[in-house]
Amino acid sequence: MKVLVVGNGGREHVIARKLCHSPQIQKILCTPGNGGTTTLSKCQNIAIPVEDFPALKQLIVNQNISLVVVGPEVPLALGITDYLQQPNLKIFGPKKSGAILEASKSWAKKFMAEANIPTAKSVTFTNAEIAKEYITETPIVIKADGLAAGKGVTVATTTEMAYDAIDAIFQGKFDQNNQSVVIEEFLIGREASVLALTDGLTIRPLLPAQDHKSVGEGDTGPNTGGMGAYAPTPIITPQLIARIQQEVLEPTLTNLQKRGIDYRGVVYVGLMISPTGEPKVLEFNCRFGDPETQPILSLLETPLEELLLACCEQRLADLPPISWKPGVAVCVVLASGGYPGAYEKSKIIYGIEKAETTGAVVFHAGTKLEQKQLITDGGRVLGVTAVGSDFAEARAKAYAAVDCIQFEGMYYRRDIGSRVFNNE
Ligand code: AMP
Ligand code: GLY
Repeated sequence: MKVLVVGNGGREHVIARKLCHSPQIQKILCTPGNGGTTTLSKCQNIAIPVEDFPALKQLIVNQNISLVVVGPEVPLALGITDYLQQPNLKIFGPKKSGAILEASKSWAKKFMAEANIPTAKSVTFTNAEIAKEYITETPIVIKADGLAAGKGVTVATTTEMAYDAIDAIFQGKFDQNNQSVVIEEFLIGREASVLALTDGLTIRPLLPAQDHKSVGEGDTGPNTGGMGAYAPTPIITPQLIARIQQEVLEPTLTNLQKRGIDYRGVVYVGLMISPTGEPKVLEFNCRFGDPETQPILSLLETPLEELLLACCEQRLADLPPISWKPGVAVCVVLASGGYPGAYEKSKIIYGIEKAETTGAVVFHAGTKLEQKQLITDGGRVLGVTAVGSDFAEARAKAYAAVDCIQFEGMYYRRDIGSRVFNNE
């Protein structure tokens, strides 16, 4: 079997690496891939952008690909799964009709209201002035309706901040076409991510995870795509998972079915767990999370291709329970100095081999191999991931590996996973 992995992040590196272990898979193509996927035994990078659907379709035909795994949300929201459909090709990732769960926050809010899924109260506006009139108290949450690479949400602590966020959205800061805003009640509690696999008939959660979205230690500063993650998070107990299955995952699947949406892929639920333990949905994503996927898949024992194929072929209910390695995994993201603002690229990366002698695995995100030299090529550069019997061990291993790596301007948070110890 030949597989195509679409994307170039840490998420795609961990997916490709897992698939390399499968005896059924001879070859994995990554479009465009990164400096990590290019060095995997069965992998080859091909420089096709994720949005160039005609070129991807041609590649699938020429290379006789039988499974496509779509990593990022942008091609899913643009309808890659619809475009690539052909007999005998399996595509892991929802069609455009399902990807809207992530691509439009106002759509997701309506969807949740219909299905009685617990979430923050919200109102959607298509006019900036009317939206501003609605702001009477803070903190309040202002969300760009469309995709914004994790940067379209402002938790406004003052009215002025809320107004600025509304203006930015209507001035097209995130997307010129994005002319609506969701204004949402501010929720307090602890955030967690539950990623679930679905074949459109059955939905099953993976290990619950938590990520650190803010750039600064102590969860301060602007939001990023994620500066680190760990799994399984102790704040999502087995009882809470059962409740999330019943109150969120099952109603999501039922409502997708009611709307005639054939969804095969990941439903990623971002949750706020209130101080009294009530789960409320903050957002849906239509794909694996990044960096959550690095620790989650590091613990997966069931072969990944079995799960992906079962989703594509609607056989998820027939599989035995998903099997996991014991212990926990922690991923620390190494970023380019300045990220999530402006940063420089093309810095030489040293020490990855040494880092991996510690037992950690270094997943690549913004890297590329140029004339046999590994250089930085993005904001989030590497995700150093370690498994341990407990959080103290996994963190110590991950940070020991981080200490081996250098590149000019390298920035990372020293407190990934510390919430577990501080009981935050
Ligand atoms: P989202 O992309 O909707 O998950 O929002 C990004 C981040 O903003 C979340 O991870 C939370 O930290 C924060 N956030 C979003 N919605 C709320 C809310 N209703 N109350 C408090 N914080 C929120
Ligand atoms: N880590 C957050 C996300 O993947 O959206």
